[in-house]
Amino acid sequence: MSNFLDLNKKIDESRQGEVTTIKNKIKGGKKLFLESYGCAMNFSDSEVVASILCDNGYTTTTDEHEADIILINTCSIRDNAENRVRKRLTNFKNRKKRQPGLIVGVLGCMAERLKKTLLEEEQLVDIVAGPDSYRDLPNLIIEVEGGQKAVNVLLSREETYADIAPVRLDKKGVTSFVSITRGCDNMCSFCVVPFTRGRERSRDPKTILKECQQLFDNGYREVTLLGQNVDSYRWNMTSKGEIKDESIPTTNFAELMAIVAEISPDLRIRFSTSHPKDMSDEVLHVIASYENICNYIHLPIQSGNSEVLKRMNRGYTREWYLNRIEAIRNIIPDCAITTDIITGFCDETDEEHADTISIMKEVQWDFAYMYKYSERPKTLAERRFEDNVPEELKGSRLTEVINIQRDNSHIKNKFQIGKVHKVLVEGTSKRSEDFMSGRNDHNTRVIFPKGDFGVCDYVMVKITDCTTATLLGEVEEILKPSK
Ligand code: SAH
Ligand code: SF4
Ligand code: F3S
Repeated sequence: MSNFLDLNKKIDESRQGEVTTIKNKIKGGKKLFLESYGCAMNFSDSEVVASILCDNGYTTTTDEHEADIILINTCSIRDNAENRVRKRLTNFKNRKKRQPGLIVGVLGCMAERLKKTLLEEEQLVDIVAGPDSYRDLPNLIIEVEGGQKAVNVLLSREETYADIAPVRLDKKGVTSFVSITRGCDNMCSFCVVPFTRGRERSRDPKTILKECQQLFDNGYREVTLLGQNVDSYRWNMTSKGEIKDESIPTTNFAELMAIVAEISPDLRIRFSTSHPKDMSDEVLHVIASYENICNYIHLPIQSGNSEVLKRMNRGYTREWYLNRIEAIRNIIPDCAITTDIITGFCDETDEEHADTISIMKEVQWDFAYMYKYSERPKTLAERRFEDNVPEELKGSRLTEVINIQRDNSHIKNKFQIGKVHKVLVEGTSKRSEDFMSGRNDHNTRVIFPKGDFGVCDYVMVKITDCTTATLLGEVEEILKPSK
């Protein structure tokens, strides 16, 4: 991932390699060090893992050097994501030589993709656990303590960890991720996720609502509903829309968002990721009708050329995407829209690349996550097409795309100067102790001087200046909580 947001990718960039730990729940247990890479889904899963292991007597540490067990939750989305993890694992392997008994485990998408290879060929780790096997971790650890290596990479059609109360790893207590679906049934030809995460399944809405309500009761003020394709969330319905059990109400994504938004006007709702082929007007109307559902949609396009989109198996054309943009702008007039772009996909010609450039100028996304195509083993693209755009050309196309987006983002931010934004205060600014930081409805970071307000408050900020990525301003009003 993800956020991912896409929040997914914001995290991808800002939190890659970040060390996440949890406070000790049980004194005297073995010490766990947990590190997460990739998308928001992985960070959310790490909170499930922490919960499972804390319930089994483990305590956690922020200091990897005092750990008895190190678990690393990994990402396979691009080659460089895996390389980063491999370097980390090599470090741990050296540590194992100095600290016999240290257990190292790989979780997440790399575990699922590489399976036993990580144990057998590379001898890097003791445990390999795929995304659907975390309930089995306590058993896998016992196997390793008994001198075995342990693997569980079974994918499930049902597992959503719905009943597990995640241990929140983000100490600030303001924003949280809540998984609503797992897996993905789309077969975008470039993408490894269907192979690493398995079939798509939706989580019981009652458990989602309960988790969001608990977060709100514990002081959290923002939840991000997570799925690889949130628009295909469905409860008690088949993919064809048939009702599975007449005695249970059905729930689609628009209805789910409305239910969560009803918890309190003071709980902000975000969601990630929307898919252009599935994003319905019904969802847009729900966003428009709730003030607390943020006017922010991450709608990855990948390419502006319909032939490339066909090769990518994305299920929409350039025209369809533009129609969705028009629908957003009609139904939610003040909505930030962000995207993902891949440069240098198989057989991409100069003309096809030029269509990506032209759609960037036409849509003017507020923000974009941009990548060079990275061929992934077993994907449709790897089997069907040749990865034949030279690395240098992928790179120069990426630079061109990044430069255009930088200008677009700066123009969008300059346009906000003089306007007043509602901001959820998240913490002290990274750059200065005298400033606070939060995000507006559009998911843009806003920096403003400290005042008579704290974390989790909503403030109205008048924007006075900006950079390409951040807005700067002065607080005009501190909002009182809703009744
Ligand atoms: N489910 C989300 C995307 C998850 S992956 C969606 O459909 O939008 C996040 C992003 O990583 C993708 O949108 C894509 O832009 C990028 N990505 C995925 N596979 C890639 C690959 N093989 N090479 C380069 N970028 C890739
Ligand atoms: Fe990958 Fe496509 Fe699924 Fe997104 S929708 S996770 S890009 S297969
Ligand atoms: Fe997420 Fe990376 Fe897996 S983006 S779903 S952690 S491949």
